[in-house]
Amino acid sequence: MSNDQSAISPSPRENAVITGAASGIGAAVARRFRERGANVFLLDRDMPSLHRSFGNADDSKAKLFEADVSDTAQIKDIFAEIERCHGGVDSVVHCAGVARLGTVIEMDEATFDFVLKVNLKGTFLLAKHAMPSLLARKGSFTAIASDAGTQGASGYAAYCASKHGVVGLVKSLALDHGPSGVRCNAICPGFVETPMLEQLFGDNPTDRAFYEKSVPLGRFARPEDVAELAAFISSPAGAYLNGAIVALDGGSTAGYFSTAVLSR
Ligand code: NAI
Repeated sequence: MSNDQSAISPSPRENAVITGAASGIGAAVARRFRERGANVFLLDRDMPSLHRSFGNADDSKAKLFEADVSDTAQIKDIFAEIERCHGGVDSVVHCAGVARLGTVIEMDEATFDFVLKVNLKGTFLLAKHAMPSLLARKGSFTAIASDAGTQGASGYAAYCASKHGVVGLVKSLALDHGPSGVRCNAICPGFVETPMLEQLFGDNPTDRAFYEKSVPLGRFARPEDVAELAAFISSPAGAYLNGAIVALDGGSTAGYFSTAVLSR
């Protein structure tokens, strides 16, 4: 499941687990944590892409795991292995997720189940199997939710349901485990320039331009914007953040936008 485990040895360095690290936001978070000197344990179901981005054999601070975040046995085994070989986990940034569009009329039941399984059950499994280690090391758990986790979005029934679930779960985690020193938070991005966004807009530049114009700051987020916030939340600078559901959307969910914004 993992590549050579001998390279990273137990050390005072931060151990950070980052899911969805093969692409987009997860890849940017992985780069940011490596920059700050963390040992990074990178999970994705897309091993070829993970290897392309982080498979440099000389990199003694990155370990790669092929795993499906909604697979109980795989997630359990990975955390057991990190505990056994590397002493435990200080930070989790859970980025893996999927988007499928459709109203309840358009979407079949299997697609709804799939989105809920990856996005919501995946968050549950990550939190469940990371928590013993996070409790022992007073660590931090950060989930990448979405502004669709705090607001409805037309045509995103399953995605919205899953991300509202993630936000609710993170709030409960913060209340359950904050008293023992584990901080649990969620980041709610608006649109971010990643392959997921390309998949959503496809070859429809009109939609893309419309939504981009509607962001008060006039642009979509970059993956690095999300990575910077994730790095802050899990650092000592974020020591008083717990149960925070942080909008990172250029002001999109701050309220209604004005005609000045739409006419630019
Ligand atoms: P992306 O599609 O570029 O990357 C997602 C990564 O997660 C991929 O590498 C994929 O292989 C992995 N993944 C998907 N399902 C998995 C599974 N079951 N097990 C393991 N890995 C799996 O997407 P992006 O944009 O980087 O999204 C990251 C997170 O941010 C997602 O949770 C998404 O819902 C959320 N988000 C994205 C926004 C956007 O506009 N791109 C906006 C708001 C939230």
